Amino acid sequence: MKLLHKKIEQEGKVLSDTVLKVDSFLNHQVDPQLMKAIGEEFAARFRQEGITKVLTIESSGIAPGVMAAMELGTPLIFARKKKSLTLSEGLLTAEVYSFTKQETNTISVSTQYLKEGDRVLLIDDFLANGQAALGLIELVKQAGAHVAGIGIVIEKSFQEGGKLVRETGYRVESLAEIESLNDGQVTFKKGAEVS
Ligand code: G4P
Repeated sequence: MKLLHKKIEQEGKVLSDTVLKVDSFLNHQVDPQLMKAIGEEFAARFRQEGITKVLTIESSGIAPGVMAAMELGTPLIFARKKKSLTLSEGLLTAEVYSFTKQETNTISVSTQYLKEGDRVLLIDDFLANGQAALGLIELVKQAGAHVAGIGIVIEKSFQEGGKLVRETGYRVESLAEIESLNDGQVTFKKGAEVS
């Protein structure tokens, strides 16, 4: 997605060979126009799948997730990482280990919102080690719902998440695929910049 590639080139900061900082438009400050375009792109790619719910994980998945849901005309559900005072019964839960943070979070979604028969589009901001996406897949399975696709804003193709998640057989669409962050440079995967 050209607009996103341009934004990453202009504003992304390579912090190391593995970490890209995009706080100016995705992880802290949010660019609503870019999020709208991202939502339209996800909707265009998954419109034929009969999506009934978009599911993401707090917090940075919410902005692209809500825009995709708006375009598809569905609700957005965000999995919580911390226990909520008002969410206690009828919870689906999965363990998500973060290699980056070296901690395990129990993510949860209420059975009130994710239901048997739902066709679910999973959205997340980054695909790195794939653990968040695998956790979301687990929640959908527990609900007896169907994973209709996975949409990722930025995939770091040099980490193992892409391979792991594609091995599940679900369709994964990443709007920007980064091949390398070596030498302080962002290198996109060739042929990935289609629209
Ligand atoms: P995984 O979910 O793919 O297994 O990845 P990992 O455990 O490594 O990621 C942990 C957190 O770090 C996630 O956000 C993920 O989005 C983020 N992350 C991973 N790689 C990068 C990167 O190169 N740049 C940036 N900016 N973030 C990265 P989180 O802790 O859930 O944060 P948030 O959603 O609350 O913002």
